[in-house]
Amino acid sequence: MGGLKSFIFFIIFMALMDGRKVSKEILLNLEKEVNKLHDQYHVHPKLGVILVGRDPASLSYIKQKQKACAKTGIEWEQFTYNTDVSTEEIIEKVKELNEDEKFHGILVQLPLPEKIYTPDVIRAIDPKKDVDGFTAYNLGKMFLSTKFEHLAPCTPMGVIKFLEYYKIPIEGQDIVVVGHSNLVGKPLAAMFLNRNATVTVCHIHTKDLSSHTKNADILCVAVGKPNLITANMVKDDSVVIDIGINRLEDGKLVGDVDFESIKDKVKYITPVPGGAGPMTVACLMENTIKAAKRIHNIL
Ligand code: GUN
Repeated sequence: MGGLKSFIFFIIFMALMDGRKVSKEILLNLEKEVNKLHDQYHVHPKLGVILVGRDPASLSYIKQKQKACAKTGIEWEQFTYNTDVSTEEIIEKVKELNEDEKFHGILVQLPLPEKIYTPDVIRAIDPKKDVDGFTAYNLGKMFLSTKFEHLAPCTPMGVIKFLEYYKIPIEGQDIVVVGHSNLVGKPLAAMFLNRNATVTVCHIHTKDLSSHTKNADILCVAVGKPNLITANMVKDDSVVIDIGINRLEDGKLVGDVDFESIKDKVKYITPVPGGAGPMTVACLMENTIKAAKRIHNIL
């Protein structure tokens, strides 16, 4: 097929969900909110970021988050530690940021080195400043009802906003989530359930993955395995949200979905990079502003 023809084919049969474009729009609106907080309330939303070690993926995530802060006007202060830091030292820092009124959000970049006990670190974060939505308090609220979602986990929230932006219905849909991590799969499944979808969660122990994925109206994949999902595993005209990020040996970034083989079969698909990732960052910015407003009793 010629260039123009295949371009038209691409437009008709598959629509790309553009995370960069959508997040840019969200960030522009958030910038206005930050300006309003400055001008009307003299509130300067500020994020405290704890990074341990120099994991390349973490450094890359942090860079994206810092850029988004700069775009929206959210202040950023980073506390970087060597991998020999103790759990107690990190918890001490978290507690200091909890008490410091200049900070409205606390982000501990994960994963932490193995010798640090991550649940204790997360538990130390004041739920009011838990902009990642990782504490039991915020997860519990999110679990109960959409009404109580305040600081919900950013990646799942980003997926929901992505679907809403493209007017893709959730209620009554058969949704399959592949991956059952605490950061993505589990909270995403709960958020879909609270929006009245029929949800199936698959994971590494699932007996026959494709028997589930083939029935999905919306398939979300967050595993960290390149090409886990191939064309024969997806339903025609379905929606495929790729939340995986994998760096191949040649340095190329890819998701968990074999994009090339699937793209002409489905109605919507997200690219990697440029799909779910920027939506996560936009939701982090939104949570930081929400936290600042709640802390200062601004409606
Ligand atoms: N590591 C990978 N994703 C995330 C995230 O959303 N938040 C934090 N804090 N660490 C991560």
